[in-house]
Amino acid sequence: MNITYYGHSCFGIEVEGIYIITDPFIRYNELASKIDIDTVKADYILQTHGHEDHYADTEYLALRTGAKVISNWEIHSFLNGQGILNTHPMNIGGSWTFPFGSVKAVNATHSSSMPENTYGGNPMGFLISAGGKQVYFSGDTGLTMDMKLIPLWAKLDLAILPIGDNFTMGYQDAAIAAEFVECEHVLGSHFDTFGFIKIDHEKAIQHFSSKGKKLTLLEIGDSITI
Ligand code: NI
Ligand code: MN
Repeated sequence: MNITYYGHSCFGIEVEGIYIITDPFIRYNELASKIDIDTVKADYILQTHGHEDHYADTEYLALRTGAKVISNWEIHSFLNGQGILNTHPMNIGGSWTFPFGSVKAVNATHSSSMPENTYGGNPMGFLISAGGKQVYFSGDTGLTMDMKLIPLWAKLDLAILPIGDNFTMGYQDAAIAAEFVECEHVLGSHFDTFGFIKIDHEKAIQHFSSKGKKLTLLEIGDSITI
């Protein structure tokens, strides 16, 4: 499994030639100006919630690529209303097997709304099992006891967690989350994009290593293979 960072909470996950994009936010992210959205491949879009720093490029990317958008019921309905019909609705607790592997929708403690503040349903995270790897993409969330359920469902190879604080948990709570989900390796998301979430990278990495965990912070455009 190959994972590319497109900035903020937007990652490209490539599994055996299938491309999954999380929370598309590229054209409106000044830090991601070197990424050309028109070269981003997408077969599936995993949409955690409707806030614009996760959704701003969803319709654009879905229209260009024809990717299937996997999200909660309310975002699925909203997209259908926009004429985007290749969608798959889920809700928290449910799993589905797609051609690339399985996805389980899990709880996230956050909020969700669509453009013009229409109702966005509940925010969610995703547990992805694909290509022999298991990845927890938490979406925007605070630290929650529900994370202790994750090891009942998966032995994680990677957890992608927000670390920027203010709108989500900060890196200290994310290190506790790594313990709750029993994962050694965390890939940071939701940091540096706006003034409220700028962090000291060295401090964050040091904090994780003091807890016996590894925090990876990718430069936008860079990739890792797990
Ligand atoms: Ni949000
Ligand atoms: Mn956000």
